[in-house]
Amino acid sequence: MTSASSDRLRTQRPATATSGRPRRHAELAMSRSDFDAIRAFVHDAFGIALSPAKMPLLKMRLRSVVQSRGLANAQEYVAQVLSNPSADAVGELADAITTNHTFFWRESAHFELLVDRLLQEHKTKNKLVPRPLLRIWCAAASTGQEPYTLAAAVRIALGPDLRRWDTGVLATDISARALDAARVGIFTEAEAAPLPDLYRQTMFQDFEGGVRVRDELRKDVTFRRLNLLTPFRFKQSLDIVFCRNVMIYFDEPTKRDLTERIAAALRPGGFLVVGLSESLGSTPPGLRAIAPGVLQKLGGA
Ligand SMILES: C[S@@+](CC[C@H](N)C(=O)[O-])C[C@H]1O[C@@H](n2cnc3c(N)ncnc32)[C@H](O)[C@@H]1O
Repeated sequence: MTSASSDRLRTQRPATATSGRPRRHAELAMSRSDFDAIRAFVHDAFGIALSPAKMPLLKMRLRSVVQSRGLANAQEYVAQVLSNPSADAVGELADAITTNHTFFWRESAHFELLVDRLLQEHKTKNKLVPRPLLRIWCAAASTGQEPYTLAAAVRIALGPDLRRWDTGVLATDISARALDAARVGIFTEAEAAPLPDLYRQTMFQDFEGGVRVRDELRKDVTFRRLNLLTPFRFKQSLDIVFCRNVMIYFDEPTKRDLTERIAAALRPGGFLVVGLSESLGSTPPGLRAIAPGVLQKLGGA
């Protein structure tokens, strides 16, 4: 996440600490068995695999959660919160442990391929359809940079013909805090800078020294909280799924299972886009690789 976004998110953190408890900036006390209990919970609940090397990071990220609950250490957190967690506690943990790092125009070759090829092919195929459908899912949307770019890409690719289409971008993430920032859609000039001019013009209006996503573009994107480990179902088959830079946090069986479930949600000929550095091992069944990080579901005409 960029510094402006992280500042925005930091301001939303609970800021209370109970008197008599460790000072706010003291390191969180966490034994190896507390760490193991938390990482087992995180793995089961979110699919995120934390290696032992991540213990200092976990201590840092959990410190304010533990303190805001008036607890003294990770042991109390495990015993009192994780032993019988409320939905709120699980959400709070997801916010604390997820890495929401993202930025505009990340791995831009995927957006270029989307506009120049995937959407052009889809347009051609639907030339004679009175109200064609285009369903895109951004499955790890973080603070919004990726789904808003997808919505802009659709507008750029379809041009004035957009009115004829029934389009929509569904943007999901497990972190409610990241999604709250995404919905607001305010970014600094520096954050918007990597985007080509056409995208900037399509996406933003000026806003208090920075930029804000235009109202019409914000309406193109629906944000929802979704844990990729849980079952998902869509009313219509999906044309394109961007699920980038999240599989790196998952172990092999979780990646495989998620890839299969996404493939099942795609229409034949639809596309799954993963991060350029994300290895899915061999090409998953029912898909074929068409470009780095881009897989197509077999069976399309
Ligand atoms: C590093 S960001 C990637 C954002 C964006 N896709 C990109 O490529 O720039 C990973 C995102 O995945 C989300 N995430 C992690 N585990 C998840 C899960 N089990 N279900 C849904 N989202 C998850 C995190 O909250 C985070 O926002």
